[in-house]
Amino acid sequence: MFENLILNNLPGNKLSYNRSNNHRKVYIETYGCQMNLSDTEIILSVLSDFGFNETNIIEESDVILLNTCSVRDNAEIRIYNRLTHLKKFKKDNPELVIGILGCMAERLRKDLLEKDKIVDIIVGPDEYRKLPSIIENTFETGEKGIATKLSKIETYDDIKPVRKNGVTAWVTVMRGCDKFCSFCVVPFTRGRERSRKLENIILEIKELEQNGVKDIWLLGQNVNSYSDGNFDFADLLKNCAEAVPSVRIRFITSHPYDLSNKLLETISSFKNISKYIHLPVQSGSDRILKLMNRLYSTEQYLKIIEYARKLMPAIGLSTDIITGFPTETEEDHNMTLALMKEVKYDSAFMFAYSPRENTKSFSMIDDVNSEIKKRRLEEIIGLQRKISIQVNSGLIGQTKEILLESVSKKSTDFLMGRTDCNKSTIVPKYEITLKREYKIGDVLDVKIIKANSATLFGEIVN
Ligand code: SAH
Ligand code: SF4
Ligand code: F3S
Repeated sequence: MFENLILNNLPGNKLSYNRSNNHRKVYIETYGCQMNLSDTEIILSVLSDFGFNETNIIEESDVILLNTCSVRDNAEIRIYNRLTHLKKFKKDNPELVIGILGCMAERLRKDLLEKDKIVDIIVGPDEYRKLPSIIENTFETGEKGIATKLSKIETYDDIKPVRKNGVTAWVTVMRGCDKFCSFCVVPFTRGRERSRKLENIILEIKELEQNGVKDIWLLGQNVNSYSDGNFDFADLLKNCAEAVPSVRIRFITSHPYDLSNKLLETISSFKNISKYIHLPVQSGSDRILKLMNRLYSTEQYLKIIEYARKLMPAIGLSTDIITGFPTETEEDHNMTLALMKEVKYDSAFMFAYSPRENTKSFSMIDDVNSEIKKRRLEEIIGLQRKISIQVNSGLIGQTKEILLESVSKKSTDFLMGRTDCNKSTIVPKYEITLKREYKIGDVLDVKIIKANSATLFGEIVN
């Protein structure tokens, strides 16, 4: 029904309207992972080139965009709930254009238009250059618009993201994923792996450094398979560390299969590369890992951790775990608990398995019932909390270097910074005796005086 509305052949850069006539205001909400946060900065850049202005006030917007996530069912339910809530804005302003971007746009395509009548446009992650023309066409003709082609080459390498000021910047270095873990929708929503050119990334981060950025995250679904034809991820990391010596470099996410010793050696040899790795294990059972198509055994995984800790004893480690994957037995679950106890992660993101259409595991029976999934999830969350408290309490009395990143969520009298190992640490904003006020971007030595499972609390010692 909507095929004739597909606007894939509309050129993104040749529009019939004139930038100066465009005063439309765009309100955008971002869901999902850091890749989506970074994509929103690209989207804002594409839109501002065509005269659209961002607004934070939803009531005054002409366009509402939701940059969405499909990774688990509850991520999509959240968006449907949000759309129900947005109905009232459409009722007040029938001209309003509502768009779904990101992974849900890619996964559901025209089904989304049929499912939810208030959606006007659907644009997938590789089609953002077309967004201005699609939006404008909908304003002019009232037609719905879809662009969801995936690309083998699009990296938005030439687009300068619109960033909010701050000391932290996200820099996407590669897009897509070729790993096809059997549970995961990302290879279908983000398409094939492709990497930006090393020299363009270096130019971008040098400019960020000049603009006062102190902390850069290199982003990709699997940064370890970065390759621009000449350089791998370890080369990229080394070049970044050398190019911006005053900036702390971090990266996310690493797939264990592609994590080389060369990469660990690179991390350990540069002071400005954060000693932190997010290394999703997903399960502690080799049988389940095989069914997940994760391409490593627990033994291989633990060898990586062992070498990382040999080179960098204080390295921060976090992980992702899925509980209740099809056929997971109590024994498999206990193996996950045992692996968590062995590694002693600093933190973990833990999820109940959610079947996703088109993925390989979708054809397996989702046979761990929700009660059992819930109980197992509670057990791994409970265990991780204990481990995190234990690990963090062990830091009390130590002095750590902290980069101040933001105001504390709980009180404006406190600031939040992170250690080199990525632990968030709360410190007072004012030092009364020395009459000092600290600010975001400062690098300080902090003595840790208190800790809970997620946060350290400290006092500034220099
Ligand atoms: N590229 C990243 C992961 C992106 S998705 C990586 O490989 O590390 C983030 C996490 O969501 C995954 O690591 C996994 O733990 C979880 N996840 C992905 N698909 C899921 C599913 N179908 N059900 C439950 N959790 C899932
Ligand atoms: Fe999904 Fe696996 Fe790719 Fe991560 S590596 S995005 S979990 S398919
Ligand atoms: Fe979600 Fe897409 Fe990221 S599915 S986790 S927003 S890549």
